[in-house]
Amino acid sequence: MDYIKVAQTNELKNGEKKTVTLDGKVLLITNIQDTYYAIDNKCPHMGGSLFEGNFNGNNITCPKHGSVFDVRTGKIVENGKIAFIKLKVNDTKAYPTKIEGNDILIGIE
Ligand code: FES
Repeated sequence: MDYIKVAQTNELKNGEKKTVTLDGKVLLITNIQDTYYAIDNKCPHMGGSLFEGNFNGNNITCPKHGSVFDVRTGKIVENGKIAFIKLKVNDTKAYPTKIEGNDILIGIE
């Protein structure tokens, strides 16, 4: 696995989020108590930008239909709805991160 520098730690404070582009993909980077996490920004349901959603605690809510993902693991926490119909949404992909000095690195295969 290769680790690629994508940002610096001072670009996102505790509770903040940011997108970066890596290998042609947009990833969502989050900082939770100075631990950094990375997941695909694109919602696996219909491609909503998770960055545009509400980030609260460990969770981000897709702005399109309200599915909730754990930013630490990419796992679905709560399926969204269209009208009254409950969706069945897949997990989004999570990537390993590490810090070197002030740099945030993401691991890709
Ligand atoms: S696009 Fe994200 S829940 Fe539908």
